[in-house]
Amino acid sequence: MSNRKILVTSALPYANGPIHLGHLVEYLQTDIWVRFQKQRGVSCYYVCADDTHGTPIMLRADSEGITPEALIAKVAVEHLADFTEFGIEFDNYHSTHSPENQTFSNLIYERLRDGGHINSRIITQAYDPVKEMFLSDRFIKGECPKCGAADQYGDSCEACGATYSPTDLKNAVSVLSGAKPITKDSVHYFFNLANFNEMLQNWTTAGHLQPEVSNKLKEWLGQGLKEWDISRDAPYFGFEIPDAPGKYFYVWLDAPIGYMASFKNLCDKQGLDFEAYWGKDSDAELYHFIGKDIIYFHALFWPAMLAGANFRTPSAIFAHGFLTVNGEKMSKSRGTFIKARTYLEHLNPEYLRYYFAAKLSAGVDDIDLNFDDFAQRVNADLVGKVVNIASRCSGFIHKRFDGFLSDVCSEPELFQQFVDANAIIAELYETREFGKAMREIMALADKANQYIDEQKPWLIAKAEGQDLELQQVCSVGINLFRLLVAYLKPVLPVLATQSEQFLAIESQAWPVAAMPLLKHTLNPFEPLMTRVELDKIQAIVDASKENLQATATTVKPKQFDPIAPTIEFDDFAKLDLRIAQILKAEHVEGAEKLLQLTVDIGDETRNIFAGIKSAYAPEALEGKLTLVIANLAPRKMRFGVSEGMVLAAGPGGKDIWVLSPDAGAVAGMRVK
Ligand code: 2FM
Ligand code: ZN
Repeated sequence: MSNRKILVTSALPYANGPIHLGHLVEYLQTDIWVRFQKQRGVSCYYVCADDTHGTPIMLRADSEGITPEALIAKVAVEHLADFTEFGIEFDNYHSTHSPENQTFSNLIYERLRDGGHINSRIITQAYDPVKEMFLSDRFIKGECPKCGAADQYGDSCEACGATYSPTDLKNAVSVLSGAKPITKDSVHYFFNLANFNEMLQNWTTAGHLQPEVSNKLKEWLGQGLKEWDISRDAPYFGFEIPDAPGKYFYVWLDAPIGYMASFKNLCDKQGLDFEAYWGKDSDAELYHFIGKDIIYFHALFWPAMLAGANFRTPSAIFAHGFLTVNGEKMSKSRGTFIKARTYLEHLNPEYLRYYFAAKLSAGVDDIDLNFDDFAQRVNADLVGKVVNIASRCSGFIHKRFDGFLSDVCSEPELFQQFVDANAIIAELYETREFGKAMREIMALADKANQYIDEQKPWLIAKAEGQDLELQQVCSVGINLFRLLVAYLKPVLPVLATQSEQFLAIESQAWPVAAMPLLKHTLNPFEPLMTRVELDKIQAIVDASKENLQATATTVKPKQFDPIAPTIEFDDFAKLDLRIAQILKAEHVEGAEKLLQLTVDIGDETRNIFAGIKSAYAPEALEGKLTLVIANLAPRKMRFGVSEGMVLAAGPGGKDIWVLSPDAGAVAGMRVK
């Protein structure tokens, strides 16, 4: 038994939306790693929680006519059900809206304040006089102060790339009420990150981060650390700052503290020693699995907060890449924005566990879920190679030997090769090289199948007087299968448990010194896994298509990818962007979100379907200008061919904007 003590977390999912396959990359990666540790007998706790605070959650509850508390309670149940059915086994799943989290948030804040790391001063911000709340950049739109482009968010211009403060926007409106924002002063509290410059210079280069992450941080640290605004004004769903009535901790302050809070909650339930994990002198290992979009928070703010509040810092941050589906960003219109629940309604979760494992590495590269590859790999590897060994051998063992395995192992060397592979497979799991681990395991499965192919038990079975040989060959096959299942157990816990039931054995530990099962009776063989059916994948895609092919491109807050590849100027230059005049706009029968537009792009008219019906009545569009990608390949849709793409701006729903005719543009104008 090792004396390692490990505490592991995954990022806390926001409590305002469902779990989707993109989330699952992380929870499955973490769960596999934790299950591997546990199988090896290492003490390892895996905690998580819902991330429940902030404006979006408050607004969503408001729009549903319920309290934020009711919303987060409902979502917590949904999240946990999704995780559980995907086999993600937390030791504790808690909430950031918990007494433990409030206690630690206050404590950390007070320690930072007493250590001289918190400043306060008055800042001027945009304020919605109708909604009576301050507006963050995302909730303000207007014209770019630099280039005049309309419908730009409060922090940066999509058209010219300028960054600015929301108070600089021209003709700004609140996205929440449409009112013209006023400016208002208020006191804000700041965490003075610059005090931790040296500490972070050291910490970020001391082996706690993946090399590519460490390099990125060097860049950020080189630019100098700004103070971090950790307060928000009421109304805000969160924790009130202890010495500042009416001020709340910004959600990102208490979110990572939620890791501690969830663990404290577990300690209280199980009598564990919290200090042994979070105290300054802790010798426990602490790992945070996160997506690469939240590195800044975890590798800069969080270690600084912990150090400043006299807690230990993480042993390592493990960042992973984003999920693409069929090579592209997940898309609602293509039906590739797949909720965990939708997947569960159609397919075995262990397929996805295996597929992600087969694609995951220790790096931050994005991983692609390609449906054809998914079906092919699961069918070939799990059904065709692994499960097949058991079904090929168990038939003879049951029919001819009453389920009884041979007295001796006739292939001790082959068996030992399989046992010896445990070291390399363990090393690959430990270093999160799951893809490589799966390849090692499948190479062993190939070897086992090759052995059976060479021995040809189906021929031995027909020969006279060769019963002993038949029993021995099949027993070797079953014993090799047993080891394969032990190695796959972190990835496929259900398959492993069902196999243990068939093999009539106890739960398998990591097989460091496994001995063959001999003179042992098997239970009847039940099919362990069936093939992926392609029509089930299609059913998932169909169920995920948010209303057919509604595809006005709306500007949404971008997923922050600090390590994303930049596109070349040549890629950008390929776009033929034109101002188009909408000549005609019509309803499309049977389509909830689409309008059919006839647009003049200067030298020709085009037919384009756009998902902007939620924002515009057709008659309101005629005569308006819009931006069109004119050289997009025509797309055949259910209602006809769409000959281009309309670029409208806005978060969706009623808030989608095309250009007005007084924007100083004319049809056919090229934009660049
Ligand atoms: O990015 C997100 O989805 C956040 N809810 C993650 C929080 S992780 C931790 F810091 F709590
Ligand atoms: Zn601009």
